[in-house]
Amino acid sequence: MRLFFPVTKPEIIVCRDLQELNRKAAEQFIALAGAASAQAERFAVALSGGSTPKALYELRGSAEYRDRVEWSRVHLFWGDERCVPLDHPESNFRMVQESLLNRVQIPPENVHRMAGEKEPEAAAEEYEKELRRFLNSTSDRPPRFDLVYLGLGEDGHTASLFPGSAAVSENRRWVTTAYVERLKAYRLTLTLSVINAAAQVTFLISGASKRAIVNQLLGAGLDSSNFPAAKVSPPDGKLAWLITKDAAGDFQGE
Ligand code: 6PG
Repeated sequence: MRLFFPVTKPEIIVCRDLQELNRKAAEQFIALAGAASAQAERFAVALSGGSTPKALYELRGSAEYRDRVEWSRVHLFWGDERCVPLDHPESNFRMVQESLLNRVQIPPENVHRMAGEKEPEAAAEEYEKELRRFLNSTSDRPPRFDLVYLGLGEDGHTASLFPGSAAVSENRRWVTTAYVERLKAYRLTLTLSVINAAAQVTFLISGASKRAIVNQLLGAGLDSSNFPAAKVSPPDGKLAWLITKDAAGDFQGE
């Protein structure tokens, strides 16, 4: 079976349902956060938006999981944001606030949100400065997140890297904007150079509506190189696809 991933072969885990997927993702988070804590280090995570991760964030904020993480070491960033006000139902920050931040004791200075409410270009530049400040870096080497969560759109987009958009081929900036014609909306997004610099990238994919794109990306002999999600392949990191059975369709993992 030929899987189109430029560098890193993904670990593909097909889960019975979203509950099992969320438990596996929560255990992965705890293991990685624990490893960072053991090294007395910060644990920098870029969160995914959209609907799929909401239940995972709720689970992580639940009594069963929240005390298994040293939140004072966790730094939360966003992989992308919709250019809407903070309290807008489409805001990825709002989704995370309601599903996770309101349930865990994380220092406010550890929450690094994208300013979706601001002018997109200014917000993108501001976020790149925030990443540089966090890293205390002047180098051009992209930040290395400990963990990046990504979702998958039916059109093969991930974060806010949409097929055919200039953002996909942006390799100098760490954060850029994208105008999504079909949504008539602007987005802020980390670029592939940052996503592919991560130590661990984990796709969270659920729902029968994703079956066609999953099989296009993982299916034998199909050219998926034009799909932004297929360009996610951290050369010096790990790549995992957590997929629910209904999204995996015929693809039953490895
Ligand atoms: C966003 C996301 C986006 C999302 C996919 C899948 O802000 O919308 O980051 O990339 O992950 O569109 O979205 P669902 O999980 O809602 O299907």
